[in-house]
Amino acid sequence: MAHKQPNLLVWHGSQVTAEERRQLLGQKPVTLWLTGLSASGKSTLAYALERSLMDMGRMCFVLDGDNVRHGLNNNIGFSPEDRAENIRRVAEVAKLMNSAGMIVIAAFISPFNYDRQQAHEIIGAANFREVHVSTSLAVCESRDPKGLYSKARAGTLAEFTGISSPYEAPEQPDLRIDTNISTLDESVNQLLAIIDPNYPLRIQKPS
Ligand code: ADX
Repeated sequence: MAHKQPNLLVWHGSQVTAEERRQLLGQKPVTLWLTGLSASGKSTLAYALERSLMDMGRMCFVLDGDNVRHGLNNNIGFSPEDRAENIRRVAEVAKLMNSAGMIVIAAFISPFNYDRQQAHEIIGAANFREVHVSTSLAVCESRDPKGLYSKARAGTLAEFTGISSPYEAPEQPDLRIDTNISTLDESVNQLLAIIDPNYPLRIQKPS
């Protein structure tokens, strides 16, 4: 990994303010950070929320663990150090997207409190909302859509979250959703409710 050379770097300011971007897009940027076990329902929730937000005229984008690991983070594994770097990079991307005015939905297992705290600090408290997709291990394992839990139980997949690598549940998330209890519509409505519900939309969906 290259060393930082902060003394050789200069920050270039933009002529465009955050308020101008807010006016243009008619929304406040925010990052909803969805954390939870594999197969807990993070991606399903994230993409359903993205669909709803777009239908409401809001500019948003999903950063999803599996997808980001196809590109930006395709050199990252599942050791604690690699997961920390995964989350750091994603948090920096979310911060950039928030700076551009977008609503970001980040769906990552992000199993470690310390890494999520780092994400919170990078993105900034004003824009960061933590959502624990708290579906139990037993339910996630019974779903096992990718067959990863059975591989982990068989010992052919190392460092698998919930089986051979820990998951540290957030103690005080902004919202908890158990996808085994709430319907998808109920969950999306709960997520919408924590995205500043009073801010005016630029585009109103025809009724
Ligand atoms: S994180 O822990 O670094 O936040 P991330 O959300 O990016 O994980 O990626 C999780 C996805 O990687 C899972 O949905 C699963 O498909 C896949 N995966 C492959 N190996 C593992 C593993 N050892 N632990 C967890 N997920 C894994």
